[in-house]
Amino acid sequence: DNGGYEHYLLKEISEQPDTVARTLRGRLDDRFHIAHLGGLNMDARETRSFRRVKIIGCGSAYYSGQMGAQLIEELARIPADAEPASEFRYRSPVVEPDTLYVAISQSGETYDTLAAVQELKRKGGRVLGIVNTVGSAIARETDGGIYLHAGPEVSVASTKAFISTAVAFALLALHLGRVRDLSPADGRRICEGLRRLPEQIKEILTLEDRIRELAKKYADSPGMMFVGRVRGYPVAREGAQKLKEISYVHAEAYPASELKHGPLALISPELPTVAIVPDDELLDKNLTTLGEIRARHGRILMVGHRTSEAADDCIVVPKNEVELDPILLTIPLQLFAYHAAVALDRDVDRPRNLAKSVTVE
Ligand code: BG6
Repeated sequence: DNGGYEHYLLKEISEQPDTVARTLRGRLDDRFHIAHLGGLNMDARETRSFRRVKIIGCGSAYYSGQMGAQLIEELARIPADAEPASEFRYRSPVVEPDTLYVAISQSGETYDTLAAVQELKRKGGRVLGIVNTVGSAIARETDGGIYLHAGPEVSVASTKAFISTAVAFALLALHLGRVRDLSPADGRRICEGLRRLPEQIKEILTLEDRIRELAKKYADSPGMMFVGRVRGYPVAREGAQKLKEISYVHAEAYPASELKHGPLALISPELPTVAIVPDDELLDKNLTTLGEIRARHGRILMVGHRTSEAADDCIVVPKNEVELDPILLTIPLQLFAYHAAVALDRDVDRPRNLAKSVTVE
């Protein structure tokens, strides 16, 4: 049942205030400013013992893992990185006892991710799952984990599961951080920020008419560039992924700082750029990048917390804590991809050549 929406994708985007609330429900502790994650099956000593976090997943799950790695490094100060599960399983990974492995999957059935989990288990790795589908293969094979409680995701392109995964990572990062050096004050700041997310997502959804107009304006480009720095980079990658998956417009994501080391050669009026520009300590650097793009006559759609003369168009989203802003900055890119796909008359919920979950090698 698509609930009166024209497409499941739009339904699932619109559900996000509620699905984020469900991912958070019962998990925030206002007394100690910690996260209760009963499913991890780890005591405090074990939780403190990890010296590294390695995150694996496929497609959007991998990009949400990149967002998660950033959250864990910032809040828990544990080195963390994400890798496509498919690459991980084929390269005979070094499995270390003091590394916490986290496998991400909406369906819990993606074969590459499952095979990577099995390889990790065989080598004695400690693996958590961040999974939406209760009782799925990956949920069963992992030592513990976090369920998203986002409800069934029908449309092939992931939206609400992506956002709920990022929220689950914020909870995990808070949990790992508060048994280490994250102060009660910072713990409280993050708890309060997380509680604000559902209302702020609602606010972003009210921008839909404007985003539809922008999508129409940019959708006939032969391709688009997505750029972001540090916290903005996983946002750019997911924005590019959504656009290519459902609209078939070629989209490339680059760290903003890498632009001048190659892809700047591509910049022209025919290749507009979506720039993720949060109000954080990198704002000035990002605005300089916009200037470099503009000097090559590139058109710019800026997604951030303010408008800028350097951009042709701006989408301004509500501000949260810097660590949590990437979650909110992703939402307009979902709507942008959706309306670009509709404008181009694509099969939004069932894009060509893709399956919701790839259960074969
Ligand atoms: C791909 C889907 O095949 O699998 C993507 O097209 C999805 O949308 C990816 O992100 C991973 O799926 P899952 O279920 O493991 O999160």
